[in-house]
Amino acid sequence: MNNKIQIFVPATVANVACGFDVLGFCLDQIGDGMLIRQVDTPGIRITKIQGCELPYDIESNVAGVSAKAMYDALKPKCGFEIEIHKGIKPGSGIGSSAASAVGSVFGMNELLGRPYDKRELTAFAMKGEAVASKSEHADNLAPAIYGGFTMVRNIHPLDIIQVPTPRDLFATIIYPQIEIKTSEARAILPKQIPIKDAIQQWANLGSLVHALHTSDYELIQRSLIDIIVEPHRKQLIPKYDQIKARAMEAGALGCSISGSGPSMFALSKGEATAQHVKDRFEQAYADTDIESQTFVSRINTQGIKIL
Ligand code: HSE
Repeated sequence: MNNKIQIFVPATVANVACGFDVLGFCLDQIGDGMLIRQVDTPGIRITKIQGCELPYDIESNVAGVSAKAMYDALKPKCGFEIEIHKGIKPGSGIGSSAASAVGSVFGMNELLGRPYDKRELTAFAMKGEAVASKSEHADNLAPAIYGGFTMVRNIHPLDIIQVPTPRDLFATIIYPQIEIKTSEARAILPKQIPIKDAIQQWANLGSLVHALHTSDYELIQRSLIDIIVEPHRKQLIPKYDQIKARAMEAGALGCSISGSGPSMFALSKGEATAQHVKDRFEQAYADTDIESQTFVSRINTQGIKIL
């Protein structure tokens, strides 16, 4: 037996300012390639990793951990070999670990004739994601699997809601080439927050979700505010306030940290404005020795796909 599948796993933006750990959206073009082979020999093996240094041991590789979770639940007679071609650097803030975690279970599920639905695949992938960030959350996993914007209402049991994508919404990303470990970016967050901050944050999140449903760009602009996480994490990103100011001057609806950083995202109405934000982002680190990458993306409403 040598049945194989090649897939593209997209990068994603988690949190989307006010939706820490619950809201996310899917990017286009940028992502990982994976090849999964179904073989006679039982067990899971990672046979190739390109693009960055990651462990081959399936107990410590996020793609291996999620694959094993699904394998142990289903107990198929066959085995699987996984090749990972990383297009998303670990620690970049655009869902690198989520892409690995999602890709292996999605590929195996396709080869086995889809015994599991998207929600169940997200649950297996969450086991892999937890290895990278030392906590379970699905705000990168869900948009990678479902596409578009997703809201994770609950993780045990998983309850995922797809939120519509306004047609003219575009994202601009700046990725300064420094690494921030999600586990460390989570460790600096307060364990408790004042009720008045919680009130403001959930008002913004509810309003943002309504604005996405109604394509109300002005309400998106008023709601893309994070008063709980951004104040603690922005110190990890060099020139954070200046870069955000550049995005807003260029006409973005809002700008915040992508996931746990160091990438930042801006959302804009129309591709021309998103491109203008990119132009302003490009010079952001010109007077430093920090390299950065910038790109414009439509919101990818398809999610993970077979090539
Ligand atoms: N919601 C997560 C965080 C995303 O911000 O820590 C990163 O994995």
